[in-house]
Amino acid sequence: MVIVASTRPGRLGPAIADWFVQATLPAAAAGGVTLDVADLADMGLPLLDEPEHPSSGIYVHEHTRAWSRRVAAADAFVVVTPEYNYGMPAALKNAFDFLYHEWAWKPVGFVSYGNTSAGTRSVQMTKQVVTTLKMMPIGATVALRIADSTHNGQVLQSAGLDEAGRRMLLELTRVASAMRPLRTAPDSDPTSVSGPVEGLTLTTAQPGDLAELLVLQRCCWVQEALANDTLDLPPLTETLDDLRESMSTWQLWCVRRHGRLVAAVRARARESAWLIGRLMVAPDQAGNGIGSWLLAYAEERAPEETERYELFTGHRSTRNIKLYERAGYALTYADGIPDGSVHLTKQRQSTAGAR
Ligand SMILES: Cc1cc2nc3c(=O)[nH]c(=O)nc-3n(C[C@H](O)[C@H](O)[C@H](O)COP(=O)(O)O)c2cc1C
Repeated sequence: MVIVASTRPGRLGPAIADWFVQATLPAAAAGGVTLDVADLADMGLPLLDEPEHPSSGIYVHEHTRAWSRRVAAADAFVVVTPEYNYGMPAALKNAFDFLYHEWAWKPVGFVSYGNTSAGTRSVQMTKQVVTTLKMMPIGATVALRIADSTHNGQVLQSAGLDEAGRRMLLELTRVASAMRPLRTAPDSDPTSVSGPVEGLTLTTAQPGDLAELLVLQRCCWVQEALANDTLDLPPLTETLDDLRESMSTWQLWCVRRHGRLVAAVRARARESAWLIGRLMVAPDQAGNGIGSWLLAYAEERAPEETERYELFTGHRSTRNIKLYERAGYALTYADGIPDGSVHLTKQRQSTAGAR
């Protein structure tokens, strides 16, 4: 992703980005690299207006989600930035601040421009910010003195400059490949847990987990579809965007075993009830206690005012119903509710004495 950092009318930024794209296009095509130019003037990001910390991955605004999707899809960045008052443009800092995990473990190179310093002080400031986001600034750099390298708002032809741009692209590509294993591991620091089997880690779900989670969910609900004789089940039909959307209302936890996603659950409060849902365990891991253990974990996360736990499952999902009954849940609508699911509840044990 080539980020155009300046946003003011009449800016030079797009012409510099255009030079970079033209200069590196053959090398990009040869290396299988696609360049996505993200012009911050087009992204329409206001000053940061998300209520949650970006590390939560909970975004209430569509402009943030659009930016998140775009940045998450990138493997590496080239920031095309001017220097404003010895620093980075505010629009660039703001664009970084909007997101968190989407930036992590990706390399970044800088094409800077300015007057005497050729934008290098802006780059130094930006490096300090990007390392906090777990990005990796690379060594190759391109710094243009506007008076020397541009004329009438265009970058002057220069074989040396084109070569510098090409070298930056190649270095970015190498570092991005080397960093790939870091990006496929869970984004957050996993909490090692002592669960029913060895090798488990438990984390709050991050945007980077969702594609894998969607696959796990579909695998897990195949049995439900067969047992209940219907494919019309939300866990089978929902999309990645739906899943992402659900993170703004549900808390979602992922369990990995030796790095592989094997189970998940979500929960949210509704008045005095703690709703638990989407409890899933990879079919090949079923029967080893992960489901009951994760259910207990979700119950423990309930807020203090919770009086009862509630969940739903298919009325013919006998295996699930048995698991829930073993955990102390009771069916509340014996005949099921119209969509073929059944409702189970469990009163929370009072902990007032303990407090
Ligand atoms: C608000 C502002 C502050 C600037 N501060 C610096 C500076 O500190 N150092 C510098 O070399 N140029 C500075 N300049 C000149 C810019 O390098 C030059 O205007 C450049 O074209 C800005 O990039 P843009 O056209 O993409 O906005 C500044 C320009 C603006 C608009």
